[in-house]
Amino acid sequence: MTTPNKRIVSGMRPTGPLHLGHYFGVLVNWIKLQEQYECYFFVADWHAMTSEYADPRRIKGFVPGLVLDWVAAGLDPEKCVIFQQSQIKEHAELHLILSMLTPLSWLERNPTFKEMSQELSGQKDLATYGFLGYPVLMASDILMYRPFAVPVGQDQLPHMELTREIARRFNHLNGDFFPEPEALLTPDAKLPGLDGRKMSKSYGNGISLGEPMSEIIPKVKTMFTDKNRLRKSDPGDPEVCNLFPYHKLMTGAEKCAEIREGCVKAAFGCVDCKKVLLESMERFLAPIHERRAALEKDPERLRALLEDGNARAREKAAASMREIRNLLNFQFD
Ligand code: TRP
Repeated sequence: MTTPNKRIVSGMRPTGPLHLGHYFGVLVNWIKLQEQYECYFFVADWHAMTSEYADPRRIKGFVPGLVLDWVAAGLDPEKCVIFQQSQIKEHAELHLILSMLTPLSWLERNPTFKEMSQELSGQKDLATYGFLGYPVLMASDILMYRPFAVPVGQDQLPHMELTREIARRFNHLNGDFFPEPEALLTPDAKLPGLDGRKMSKSYGNGISLGEPMSEIIPKVKTMFTDKNRLRKSDPGDPEVCNLFPYHKLMTGAEKCAEIREGCVKAAFGCVDCKKVLLESMERFLAPIHERRAALEKDPERLRALLEDGNARAREKAAASMREIRNLLNFQFD
């Protein structure tokens, strides 16, 4: 293998505003990792095109918003490289090279591919060459920077496995070159949506990072708590309450223990519990909203930040591709 490194790579598709589920599922991890490692975080706009190919012009509109959400959440462009996939053409070149050596059967048996094709069938025709190759493009995004790890959500594990298999096959054919990066999952990151289902934009059951308190308040007020607790005098069960997972993440441990006890002993009612949660949310979101407002007012800074990140990523990617072309004897000299 190449020299051990402390690099990290990860990306997200630009499909709309990020919500608290993204924050606690992936972003907390990124924000922590930027303190310890050389990090590359990118907007996967080409990946968005695998499903949005019929109307690709819309994708660009989501790019600045995603970067805005990241920086508002706490990614610091001084500490990590933030860039846009489609602006680093080397990703496309590596994708092409890796596609040559990736067996079709690996892609066809990929569970994510099967699930997504079924889920979206009827709405979108995903029987395309590009969609089947989604994991190959992802492997290129990752292997380009030769990271030791990739922070992703649980749903991306099959893709990570494929990335390692592709790296192994490349190394087997061409000599050791790529590391086999591991997935870094956020421990215990499940934050259900307001209705208890998975938090998802398509269910409309989330709270986005840029949402003002005035919109959050009515949402929290209508959240279900323990369905068996009809009156305050009934004892409740925090484990089946939709509110409690939010408290666990946003209300301090001590207060959480108090809430739990008050709920179980029928001393603390759901209306008051929601009030406490709204206070916690406000405290939690205040710095995020502040950073967001500052950057939103300054589109030039946002643009410059991304341009700077693109330049840094491009330099790294260009160096990688020179090595890969040399290795395969595809250089021009
Ligand atoms: N597939 C990822 C998602 O849907 C996005 C992505 C594309 C990615 N390339 C990547 C994530 C490389 C990590 C590394 O969220």
